[in-house]
Amino acid sequence: MDAIVAVYSDWGVGCCGTQPVTLSADRRRFRELTEGAAVIVGRKTLADFPGGRPLKNRVNIVLTRCGGEVEGAVTVHSAAEALAEAKKYTRAIVIGGASVYEQLLPYIDRVYVTKIDVCPHSDSFFPNLDFSAGWICAGRSEDMEENGLKYRFTVYERK
Ligand SMILES: NC(=O)c1ccc[n+]([C@@H]2O[C@H](COP(=O)([O-])OP(=O)(O)OC[C@H]3O[C@@H](n4cnc5c(N)ncnc54)[C@H](OP(=O)(O)O)[C@@H]3O)[C@@H](O)[C@H]2O)c1
Repeated sequence: MDAIVAVYSDWGVGCCGTQPVTLSADRRRFRELTEGAAVIVGRKTLADFPGGRPLKNRVNIVLTRCGGEVEGAVTVHSAAEALAEAKKYTRAIVIGGASVYEQLLPYIDRVYVTKIDVCPHSDSFFPNLDFSAGWICAGRSEDMEENGLKYRFTVYERK
């Protein structure tokens, strides 16, 4: 199973339920890599999507403990249930947020990481794979720039 995330310099991923800095190039890459797949997403991240609605052209597997059924999505109530549901699809990608990344990381073999060279205050983090012995950076794009911000696309794989 794969995951996709955009991280700031300190591997922060968000603050107060949203991403303080986003790039349109990253949104495009996110769409390209997730369309046609099943995406696993936490209820709080879903709430931050436009209109709080599931993403189009993807099977949305939404994790919630206390929430009800989400229209247009498959609603699951535990990590085990999310994993069982994900197995029904050819491709499944974990798309966050922080709590979902953390719980499902043991089941993930590849992470698409967009690294943005900026460090806004974050209250949610992805585990720093540069300091994780079990992971290797298997590829990276050249440095690119958008709105004065340097960023690059990288791929980490489990050793
Ligand atoms: N930079 C990026 O690429 C990226 C990507 C995605 C998200 N984010 C950021 O990440 C932050 C959100 O992360 P978060 O950790 O606060 O929230 P989250 O992981 O999106 O959602 C947490 C919610 O998911 C449900 N949940 C989690 N684990 C569960 C389990 N084992 N069983 C059942 N339900 C479970 C619970 O929903 P209920 O409360 O309904 O029970 C929980 O409150 C935001 O700032 C967002 O912008 C960043």
